[in-house]
Amino acid sequence: MRSMHAAVVVLAVAASPVAAQTRGLSGNWAVENTNGDGAIRRTYFMLSQQGDSIRGSIRTTQFFYRIKEGVGNAEKFAIVGSMMDGANERKVTYEGRVAGDSLLLFTRRRATDTLLTRSVARRVPDGEGAMPVRVALPARHTVKYNGLAKAPPMGWNSWNKFAGRVDDAAVRGMADAMASNGMRNAGYEYINIDDTWEGNRDAQGNITSNSKFPDMKALADYVHSKGLKLGIYSSPGPNTCAGYEGSHGHELQDAKSFAAWGIDYLKYDWCGARNLYSDEEMPAVYQIMGDALLATGRPIVYSICQYGRLDVWKWGADVGGNLWRTTGDIRDAWDSMTRIGFSQNDLAPYAKPGHWNDPDMLEIGNGAMSDDEYRTHMSLWAILAAPLLAGNDLRSMTPSISAILLNRAVIAIDQDPLGKQGSRASASGDQEIWTRPLADGSIAVALFNRGAAAAPMKVRWADIGLSKHGSAIDVWTSRRVDTSPAEYESTVPSHGVVMLRVVR
Ligand code: GLA
Repeated sequence: MRSMHAAVVVLAVAASPVAAQTRGLSGNWAVENTNGDGAIRRTYFMLSQQGDSIRGSIRTTQFFYRIKEGVGNAEKFAIVGSMMDGANERKVTYEGRVAGDSLLLFTRRRATDTLLTRSVARRVPDGEGAMPVRVALPARHTVKYNGLAKAPPMGWNSWNKFAGRVDDAAVRGMADAMASNGMRNAGYEYINIDDTWEGNRDAQGNITSNSKFPDMKALADYVHSKGLKLGIYSSPGPNTCAGYEGSHGHELQDAKSFAAWGIDYLKYDWCGARNLYSDEEMPAVYQIMGDALLATGRPIVYSICQYGRLDVWKWGADVGGNLWRTTGDIRDAWDSMTRIGFSQNDLAPYAKPGHWNDPDMLEIGNGAMSDDEYRTHMSLWAILAAPLLAGNDLRSMTPSISAILLNRAVIAIDQDPLGKQGSRASASGDQEIWTRPLADGSIAVALFNRGAAAAPMKVRWADIGLSKHGSAIDVWTSRRVDTSPAEYESTVPSHGVVMLRVVR
């Protein structure tokens, strides 16, 4: 923050009043960003200069800022935009000048104080890009359960591997792979397109897909022809996280479009909605889409994504959610995956058939973790009754990665019909034992070693509530385990896991 203030002060001194250029800076300016997909995303600068003071707003692809500090004129100016995001203030700083018909914009790299990221804004009519008004929030009621997701959803999602590069061909490729590589038979079902599929709205306000997805209905037909289901993504805000068109003010209309295309799953991501609504309003906002999806009459899984704010696990089911993200975004990294996975213990009571905690999608196979770490990822998600949404390129998996994603015994634990999420039974330093009760009376027991060296780990059957124990199987090696001694002992690799299914 210090250098930001410094920049503003320096400019205040340098900016002499140049009356003739006052009008030159005031007005509505837009920078256009294209991703090569036909969807145009704009950042708006609505500026009003009086003397050396600049007021107005900045609307980026995701956020809406009020100008809180603004000094200078057409020759040289600096503006600081500010917005509240929940309890946190977000800020954005630009410096710039008018050059002919354009507004040149720079941001300053704080560490080195150098100016960078040059973008060029053009004048647009006043009012264009103004923040849309809030939609009236409905009275709260309980949205009827849609009968879906009796077990945690399984499938694939485009974001972790492809982000903004996902297209029709990639989605078809994933469907082909899933239908032929054993995943479909193992229970994987949904092929979910995440952010960046959206185009602009047509004259009737209908959402269109951008050039990467020429025909969404045809794509859904294709995915269905493979015995799979198609998921899509939107936001209750005017914009998605990647700055594409959101469903704000078009909720019913979009739900109908999704249903008409043959969509089976919607991930609905808060993002741009934070400019319009407070966290406390989230349940009412999510209820709008919960109702809209039900009203289509098509079975559509409703996946709530607002990063676990406002204890979503307490109200997610009431607004029609089948699953709700409990944390911020996962990365393909041991620290990210374990920080998320091992922090889910207290949420176990909130998961039940039809309604699941979602600690985010799988990173298995994306390359930055070892096989032991990916086995920990898969085992922990199974203990947590978490959705199993692969996030890698299914067209090019190594045998060891497919073995992790396709392990039937681990999948059976995740998908267990009792639908009870597991929890931590004990922890000692870097070693943790988690258990999950299963429908047939057996117990899944996972011995996790989060430490940097292999470690011997022990579990006494009596300590995990097993007075009588019958047979046990190590689900990663498929070996039978001798349950006659009172305890089980094994050396668990660094960042690895041993997971057992113990039948009483
Ligand atoms: C958010 C979500 C991610 C992904 C991106 C897309 O960050 O949490 O899972 O959907 O948006 O922009």
